[in-house]
Amino acid sequence: MTALTAVRGMNDILPEATPRWRDLESVVARLLAARGYQEIRLPLVERTALFQHSIGEVTDIVEKEMYTFTDRGGDSLSLRPEGTAGCVRAMIENKLLAQEGAAHRVWYAGPMFRHERPQKGRYRQFHQIGVEAFGMPGPDVDAEQIVLSARLWETLGISAVRLQINSLGTPASRLAYRERLVVYFSRYERDLDEDSQRRLHTNPLRILDSKNPDLAELIAAAPALPDSLDGASRAHFAELCALLEAAGVAYTHNPRLVRGLDYYTHTVFEWITDRLGAQDAVCSGGRYDGLVARLGGRETPAVGFALGMERVVALLEDAQIASPQLVPDCYLVWAGEGLAAPALELAEQLRNSSGLRVIQHCGGGSFKAQLKRADRSGARFALILGEQEWATGSVQVKPLRADQPQSTVPLTTLPAWLAQQDIGSSR
Ligand code: HAM
Repeated sequence: MTALTAVRGMNDILPEATPRWRDLESVVARLLAARGYQEIRLPLVERTALFQHSIGEVTDIVEKEMYTFTDRGGDSLSLRPEGTAGCVRAMIENKLLAQEGAAHRVWYAGPMFRHERPQKGRYRQFHQIGVEAFGMPGPDVDAEQIVLSARLWETLGISAVRLQINSLGTPASRLAYRERLVVYFSRYERDLDEDSQRRLHTNPLRILDSKNPDLAELIAAAPALPDSLDGASRAHFAELCALLEAAGVAYTHNPRLVRGLDYYTHTVFEWITDRLGAQDAVCSGGRYDGLVARLGGRETPAVGFALGMERVVALLEDAQIASPQLVPDCYLVWAGEGLAAPALELAEQLRNSSGLRVIQHCGGGSFKAQLKRADRSGARFALILGEQEWATGSVQVKPLRADQPQSTVPLTTLPAWLAQQDIGSSR
């Protein structure tokens, strides 16, 4: 049989890459914990209706990109294309928002699935870290999340990102804007492409997102969203801008930023980069005040964002930021009659008492062959245990990364000897 390959657009993350992923996850987890965000773990599969009612029926995601199937019980289910819908469902279902005044900060991480055309930075299985705050209506928490994302870039050493923000206003001002757009684009209906003609009556805001260069001029001359905002929406946005300025977070106001999901109100934002080709959004989100009630919960304001982990990892690689390495400290080479149990015990003892990373050689072979593996493992020292060493209660310690002589070290003083070499101290 010819070897099977992975599904197109679904990537393996190989051992050489996973330390970087783990490091990214732990940096984000630390920043979130410091701000009171708690982790929530959610199913990968939800009812299809959940995504239709939240992301919106007339969005690219729901119309064309979902992995939807009927399960054996006859239910229509979908692999989650994003995390917000499932998170809101879980918050409502588990009654976390049932009490008046409830406020929660949560985050999640994991794979999302969209049947998009794969290209650099765009995959069919990709990973997000998502952050959501419930029960807080003001721009203070919008600012908290944007400042948190800015802090993340700073912590990671990523500088090739820029922040764009916009306000979609209240549902009422969004509706007023929608009507103005319909009037405007209807005048040019014949000039629109097929997608935009269809959207004209279903979701005209999405025409502004069109990547068709033939429409660029028409879109540039369309009525601007800020003119349709009511007083409260303007005040919310102005306060957010003031808070970002006070926090020293640079942004541009992009009045055409509308986002591809229908649930947003007021603030929307996107961190974009010009380092990843067409896939320029690295981290995006916004406020979604109406969604909890729309999905059957109590009226609850909410705001959140998600970052695309593949894109952040690509930016780290692009900036040549060193990836942490998970190399062992010692590789235990051993051979000899009756030494299997002592070797096992020695490796365990070093791991337990000194917290060292110790690979114990498995699979037999000559000392020479074992030492070759020790070298390939990246370990700093080979510990050599043969019959003679065992008889005298010692090991040979062979430095593998430096041109230093081999030493004989008694087993009783080995932990102290290794500690003196300053290994294992960097974690
Ligand atoms: P989104 O803009 O659809 O928003 O996705 C968030 C991020 O996920 C994007 O900025 C991008 O970095 C990454 N991403 C999206 N699609 C792909 C793909 N096909 N391949 C690789 N990366 C991708 C949401 O998903 C919202 N749930 C964000 C949110 C949370 N809004 C409020 N709370």
